[in-house]
Amino acid sequence: NLKACLFDLDGVIVDTAKYHYIAWRQIAEELGFEFTERHNERLKGVSRQRSLEILLEIGGITLPAEEMAKLAERKNNLYLELIRRMTPEEILPGAQEFLKACWAAGYKTALATASRNAALILELLQIGSLFDVVMDGNKVSRTKPDPEVFLNCARDLRVPPAACAVFEDAEAGIEAAVSANMLAIGIGDPAILHHADLVVPGLASLSIEILRQAANKKIS
Ligand code: BG6
Ligand code: MG
Repeated sequence: NLKACLFDLDGVIVDTAKYHYIAWRQIAEELGFEFTERHNERLKGVSRQRSLEILLEIGGITLPAEEMAKLAERKNNLYLELIRRMTPEEILPGAQEFLKACWAAGYKTALATASRNAALILELLQIGSLFDVVMDGNKVSRTKPDPEVFLNCARDLRVPPAACAVFEDAEAGIEAAVSANMLAIGIGDPAILHHADLVVPGLASLSIEILRQAANKKIS
């Protein structure tokens, strides 16, 4: 029986995924290689540090740790510049409505993200009060696809992992949800999120009824 809904932030609640991509593409360009949208899928859901490692791997570049730290900081500054003027209008269609429907249905809610900018984004979007628990990149040591972020949410919400549904746009996030033994709802492309229990284009396409059906189907 479903008791809690755990939401990824970037790409699920708000379209910051495009800003992460713009910032990383700029870094790649400065390093002299092309960084495509397909490459970018590998960066979704994973920590800033891990994203940089993957980016450098794609470019075939190795750098000393100090250089990497500088690049990670530079990427974050580019990203912060892009999101600085974000308003509640950039909340993705249906996200707020679905969060409220979760509350009305009696489900607990959590934000489960690798981002270390989550507090800022929640403030810009003014939706902090819709989450019982906020688990972000500052509180988690192992990045998705490790299930730590989701298991921490279940622990803090005091519900068993099997009673949680996860909403994720990233391949790594779906893998994490599956290893946590949670219902995995993909937001995006079924061809990319093929391990999810159900994939929808966005939270606007979901209802509590559809969610319950997916949960029942997983158990039976
Ligand atoms: C995730 C994004 O939510 O957060 C990743 O999907 C990003 O693309 C990660 O790298 C870390 O975010 P931040 O804001 O701490 O750089
Ligand atoms: Mg995401």
